[in-house]
Amino acid sequence: MKSTPQERPTVEAPSLQELRQRALAAASPKAYGAGAAIVCDRLVRIFSSEGIEVQALQGLELTIQQGDLVALVGASGSGKSTLLTILAGLDVPTAGTATVDGCDLLEMSAKERLRYRREVVGFIWQQTARNLLPFLTAAENIALPMQLRGRRATAAGSKGRAARVAELMDALEIGHLAHRRPNELSGGQQQRVAIAVAMANNPPVLLADEPTGELDSETAGVIFESFRTVNRELGTTVVIVTHDPMVAAEVRRTVAIRDGRTSSEVLRRTVTDEHGEESVNEREYVMLDRTGRVQLPVKFLEALGMEHRVAVDLATDHIEIRPDDLVGG
Ligand SMILES: Nc1ncnc2c1ncn2[C@@H]1O[C@H](COP(=O)(O)OP(=O)(O)OP(=O)(O)O)[C@@H](O)[C@H]1O
Ligand SMILES: [Mg+2]
Repeated sequence: MKSTPQERPTVEAPSLQELRQRALAAASPKAYGAGAAIVCDRLVRIFSSEGIEVQALQGLELTIQQGDLVALVGASGSGKSTLLTILAGLDVPTAGTATVDGCDLLEMSAKERLRYRREVVGFIWQQTARNLLPFLTAAENIALPMQLRGRRATAAGSKGRAARVAELMDALEIGHLAHRRPNELSGGQQQRVAIAVAMANNPPVLLADEPTGELDSETAGVIFESFRTVNRELGTTVVIVTHDPMVAAEVRRTVAIRDGRTSSEVLRRTVTDEHGEESVNEREYVMLDRTGRVQLPVKFLEALGMEHRVAVDLATDHIEIRPDDLVGG
């Protein structure tokens, strides 16, 4: 008997999860940054408008491990938002490579990109109003990404969604706000709902562009605590762009971007001394790119009047850099 199109068994396209696994399996274990949550290699983004070119990213290199909580800092115009919108799948780089959770951001089709934005990354904007739909309640806003994911509308499906909404609201302590619309919420409450929306489909990576920029410092502290909760409890890799020195000081790793490149980073770890006293050990590092370039801190260069050319010598366990001793030579 010939089957009608309706009766033919539907062949499910491989899920994004499967595609990701395959891509990871195919990658050589020694490949640059293999297994990391986020890998950017020589990433370039050039904007051209009215004949003027702006190189927003100039060969940026960045690796972020799974489960990390990282702050991105840098002067205005240094390329932070450009990087984040690329990682969010909202913009495409001009050159280089960017991989998030095994997904190649330059090679994705439009359909894959849509799935990527729904399932692999959650994104939170600075502008609180931009994160939520004004005519939906907090709970409806959180349920929406799950509905858009394209699961069939079954009773079991909607029960599962309701449970997930409740779980997220509980984790972010916003259960009492479930039935309020965004205009009935404070800025801080809206951002906490926005984190729940971003986490609805349980993406492995959460990105936020100045999520506390519109909030006072006390509220900002509460929001930052919510990011920590998500990172700790759900194992989500979290990247936050911030100008807030308090936020930057509270994460294990702060990466600074300068002129479209990662320039330096601060790593912090808690150390316990012989009396059992805990303190945070902070160390600044500069990035060494794959061609051997380093960007030295401006304050160091100014302190020793170094410019243009420096003398470099190899010692047994370090490299010495001194002011040019043959100026003009
Ligand atoms: N769509 C665009 N068209 C043209 N130039 C752009 C565009 N988006 C960003 N730029 C330029 O790229 C550079 C980097 O901008 P970006 O928004 O990434 O900076 P930022 O680090 O996020 O700054 P801020 O801290 O002010 O938010 C800037 O010079 C900016 O003017
Ligand atoms: Mg920005």
